Amino acid sequence: MGRSVAVCRVSEVPEGRGRVVRLDDWVISVFRDGDRIVAIQDACPHAGASLGSGWVEDGAVVCPLHRWRFSLIDGRCLGGGRPDEGVSCVPVEVREGWVWVSV
Ligand code: FES
Repeated sequence: MGRSVAVCRVSEVPEGRGRVVRLDDWVISVFRDGDRIVAIQDACPHAGASLGSGWVEDGAVVCPLHRWRFSLIDGRCLGGGRPDEGVSCVPVEVREGWVWVSV
């Protein structure tokens, strides 16, 4: 059974940018896109760059290394690679100013 973990404050996630969070050996990136908070796997499926160092553009995170784009709705690859070369999205909940992820 999964559990929820508070990983950072919402105020620590810059608009349009990522914040890398490490949970044991699991690394995710938390993004803010307007009012939405989204978490995805940090490692880019292309060559492993940290997507948390990327940025948000038109509802997608852009990988800083070769600029593949991933949907912040479902993780699908929207540019660069094939649609099925996407990233995993992590369930997120915002409670009292904290970002909680399901692990
Ligand atoms: S490592 Fe992300 S696009 Fe190449």
